[in-house]
Amino acid sequence: MLLASVLVVAAAVAAVAMTRAGMRPATATATAAADGFVLSERCPPSFERMADGTCELRDLYQFYDSLQDRGVGGTRTSLPQHRDGFRPEQIDLGRYLFFDPLLSGDGTQSCASCHRPDRGFADGKPRSIGIRGQDAGRAAPTLWNVAFLQSFFWDARVSSLEAQAQGPLFSPREMGNEPARLLRNLNASSTYRRLFRQAFPGGGDAITAAQVYLAQQPLRPLCARLRGRVE
Ligand code: HEC
Repeated sequence: MLLASVLVVAAAVAAVAMTRAGMRPATATATAAADGFVLSERCPPSFERMADGTCELRDLYQFYDSLQDRGVGGTRTSLPQHRDGFRPEQIDLGRYLFFDPLLSGDGTQSCASCHRPDRGFADGKPRSIGIRGQDAGRAAPTLWNVAFLQSFFWDARVSSLEAQAQGPLFSPREMGNEPARLLRNLNASSTYRRLFRQAFPGGGDAITAAQVYLAQQPLRPLCARLRGRVE
């Protein structure tokens, strides 16, 4: 009872503080305080917030046009086309998903198990180890600059974003999940249902496969950003 009153008071104080700071007092904040997970409403560094609320990558390379798609060398080369314009909440949701082993068949493997931020988003092994200690058959490539790739995997066998996203999730030697189980596990989490609703405001109550694949895409521009920060 006492704890409940303290929480209510804390939420009220937070709402007032946010209004003073000129921020929108999100209705989700009170619920978010209970489980501690909140999606950022700000674009990450190196991204500019556009009038429609989406974030676009800003980079020195964008100020040069390339000649016949070859560039003129060095920093005077324009960047390849890349997908941009995600909302800050979608970018942040992608970050949560990247580190969450809930995405794997038995809850042991996250994307970061093989694409480790402290190992250049690879794992430093000759061949990656997947679910139940299986040999994944190939080495995990770095995810630096992956935002600018037009085809994926060592043999460039996949060129669509959605197909790439499903590769590790459903490979029996990597994360070993199945589409139905993935959606069941995510939808069983009231936190994820809330976070997906926040990231995809137009969507319904249940998390859909399309949203899960899409939520992984902002991670690519994010990797470009992280690379920029390290250099
Ligand atoms: C078990 C280790 C493992 C896990 C877990 C894993 N990956 Fe990978 N990843 C790999 C390997 C190995 C490849 C290369 C596969 C190939 O070439 O056939 C790869 C390739 C990729 C590529 C293509 C990169 C390129 O240069 O073509 C992307 C993007 C990627 N993974 C993202 C992810 C995401 C996002 C997740 C989580 C949903 C994830 N990976 C989970 C091992 C893993």
